[in-house]
Amino acid sequence: MEILNIKNITKVYGQERNKTYALNKINLTAQKGEFISIMGTSGSGKSTLLNVISGLDVPSSGEVYIKGKKLSSLSDKELTNFRRHHIGFIFQFFNLIPVLSALENVTLPAILAGKHPEIVEKKAQDLLKLVGIGHLSHSKPSEMSGGQQQRVSIARALLNEPEFILADEPTGSLDSKTSKEILCILKNFCEHMNHTLVMVTHDAHVASYAHRVLFMYDGEIVDELYLNTSEHDRQKNILDIISRIERLSQ
Ligand SMILES: Nc1ncnc2c1ncn2[C@@H]1O[C@H](COP(=O)(O)OP(=O)(O)OP(=O)(O)O)[C@@H](O)[C@H]1O
Ligand SMILES: [Mg+2]
Repeated sequence: MEILNIKNITKVYGQERNKTYALNKINLTAQKGEFISIMGTSGSGKSTLLNVISGLDVPSSGEVYIKGKKLSSLSDKELTNFRRHHIGFIFQFFNLIPVLSALENVTLPAILAGKHPEIVEKKAQDLLKLVGIGHLSHSKPSEMSGGQQQRVSIARALLNEPEFILADEPTGSLDSKTSKEILCILKNFCEHMNHTLVMVTHDAHVASYAHRVLFMYDGEIVDELYLNTSEHDRQKNILDIISRIERLSQ
């Protein structure tokens, strides 16, 4: 079942002679349960694409449909509400609030959205356990390692059980062992709960966990690679991804 449909999206920054086409006529669909990686050189439009998909940024032309809903047809309030219920974000630098504990960071968005604190807290505790930091629920971000903070931000993104998760370099500041654990958690969400994940990364090893890799160049999706997702094929996947990236830069 299709969850995302992007039709001919263009995003232009600046005016006249200083125009930058951050996105140039992008078309893309994603199915429920799919894990997509987006790769491409710096400035190729990856973050802009995530922002436009999430409705955080408005395209200059074209339409984004999520679950059949045309984002441009929603009012600001409807869009905020839609995002809150259907989309989870994981940022590279976690965006945690320093004075709040892990548990409070995870629950804050849901409590602001008017959910019942007790129910939300129980769910947040379960999620913190799931991502392996149940014992740190009362710690502040400054008392946690980068990997632990990223787990908090993943728990926060998953609290509302969003069917659609967007992640910009979610493992960008983590060591390879922690990255692997986090990728396995995310991949499980796709394969066992039928969630959809669109993840930006610069790292071929990280991208190799996805079902499909998209390659961007100058605001366009210029290449696409479908991967076998068994652990057995990982090394081959990484080599295939690297060779596509090399082809891009020629
Ligand atoms: N707010 C903005 N105003 C003007 N230009 C912008 C703005 N945001 C992005 N751009 C430009 O749009 C292009 C795409 O930027 P984007 O941030 O999407 O790249 P990216 O692929 O995410 O790069 P990176 O890998 O470095 O994060 C770049 O040329 C960038 O300079
Ligand atoms: Mg970016």
